[in-house]
Amino acid sequence: MKKGEVMKNNLFVIFGATGNLTYKKLLPALFQLISNKSFSGDTKIVCVGRKELTTETYVDDAINKVTEKIDWDSFRDNLLYYRMDIESISDYDSLRNFIENHCQFNNSNTVFYLATSPELLPTIAEGISTFNLAKKGDPSVRIVFEKPFGEDLASAKEYNQLLKQYFKESQIYRIDHYLGKEMIQNILVVRFSNKIFEDVWGSNGIKKITILAKESEGVIDRGSYYDRSGALRDMLQSHLMQMLSLVAMEPPESFETDDIRDKKVHVLRNLKTDFNPDNVFIGQYNGYRSERNVLPDSKTETFVYLKVAVDTERWRGVPFYFITGKHLDEKKSEIIVDFLENSHSHKQWSNESVPPNQLIIRIDPEDGITFQINTKYPGLTLDVRPTILDYCHKCQAIGNFPEAYEKLLLDIISGDSTLFPRWDEIEHSWRFIDQIKSYLKDSDPIEYNSFEELDQMIKYK
Ligand code: BG6
Repeated sequence: MKKGEVMKNNLFVIFGATGNLTYKKLLPALFQLISNKSFSGDTKIVCVGRKELTTETYVDDAINKVTEKIDWDSFRDNLLYYRMDIESISDYDSLRNFIENHCQFNNSNTVFYLATSPELLPTIAEGISTFNLAKKGDPSVRIVFEKPFGEDLASAKEYNQLLKQYFKESQIYRIDHYLGKEMIQNILVVRFSNKIFEDVWGSNGIKKITILAKESEGVIDRGSYYDRSGALRDMLQSHLMQMLSLVAMEPPESFETDDIRDKKVHVLRNLKTDFNPDNVFIGQYNGYRSERNVLPDSKTETFVYLKVAVDTERWRGVPFYFITGKHLDEKKSEIIVDFLENSHSHKQWSNESVPPNQLIIRIDPEDGITFQINTKYPGLTLDVRPTILDYCHKCQAIGNFPEAYEKLLLDIISGDSTLFPRWDEIEHSWRFIDQIKSYLKDSDPIEYNSFEELDQMIKYK
C-alpha cells in the first residue's frame, strides 16, 4: 500500500460484535481508519451477534459502550447489525443474502473477523465457506482470528487442519495485537539500522535480556476465559514470545513477510529451558479465587517468571527472562537489554561506579527508548556517572498516534501479513508452552500480594 492511498470497497464482517473487543478496539480503530481516509467512506461493517438488536439499537448500545470519541452521526452509516445463531450452519445462507442486499459484496476487500471464543472457529469457517461467502484462495477475502489460537499444540493443530480445508495460509490472519504496537515494530528498526547495536547484539555484547509485561488490573470480567488460560497461555505463548522472536532473530535477508517470519521461527524453534524451580516460577494473586467465574480452588497462574535460553550460536550463554502477571504494582511492558561490563573501566573506576550500558525499549505505558551510558561528572575530576538518554516516541508523532488495531486492520485490508504470526510460529510457541505446562502439572502457584514479594522469590540467576 502506498502512503496516502485510500483503500476502497472494504467490507468487514465481525462475529462477536456485541463483545468487549469490538466496542473497545475494533469499532474505534475502524472509525479512525475511515475518518483519516485510509479506508473509503463507503466502508461497510456488518456486526454479527446473537442479541435481538436492530442496526439502530446496536448503534445506541455502542454509543454507551465505546469510550473513544467517535462522530456517530457519520460512523452510523458504515454500520449494519445482523442477528443470527452463529452455531447454526444454515443461518450463514441468510447472512449471505443480507450482505448481498446491503453491501457491494462483489469486488470488495472482504474481512471476516472472529472476535469470538476459539470454539466457534470451526462452525464459522464452515458456514462462510459452505455458503460461498469466502472462497478458498480468493486473495480479496481474508479471515482473522484473535489469540489464543487454540489452547495447546494439539488443539491449535486441529484448528489449523480444519482451516486449511477452507482457506489458504495467505488468507489467514492470526492477530497478536502486540505486533501492531509502534514500539514492537520499532525493535526491527533499532536493531537493524544502528551499527552500534548490530555488532554487539549477541553473547559478545549482551549479558541478559528481560521481557516484561506487568499489569495492575486483575482479570476484571474475563474470569471464565482466564481461568482456563492463565498467564502462560494468555500472555506468554503470544505477546512475550513474539517480542522475544523479534529481539533475538537473525538479520532477515529482506524485510519481506516470509523472510522475517522465517527468522522468527528459527528463534522459537531453538527455545530451551532447564525445568527446575529456579527457572520456572508461577504465582496467583491473593483474591483471584474469589473473582467472578473463577473456580474457588483454581490453580491457574496469574504470574509467570521464566528463564530461557535461545540455543543458537549468537545467543549461547545469554539468559532471557520472561516476567508477566496481573494484579502487580503497575502496568508496564518493556524489553530490557543489559550489556556486558566494560572491559577497561576497572583500570580507572570502581566497578560500581561504571554500570554496564542498558537499553530499554518501552512499549507501555509510554512508548519510547531509554539508553544508559556513562559520562563524565561535571567538574574538575574524571569521575563518571550513569546518564540516561531518553526518547519519547509518542511526542514525535504528528497528528493521531496509531493504535495497534488500526495498523493491523490496515495491513489486513492491504494484504500485508508481516505483523501476523504464521502457523509455524504458533506451532513452535505452543510446543514450548506445552512443555512448561507438563512440567508444572502438579505444581501450585505461590500466592502473592505484591510484585515486591515476587521479586524477592524469583532468582534472575
Ligand atoms: C491480551 C490479554 O491479549 O493482552 C489480556 O488477553 C491482557 O489478559 C492484554 O490484559 C494486555 O494488552 P495491553 O495492550 O494492554 O498490554
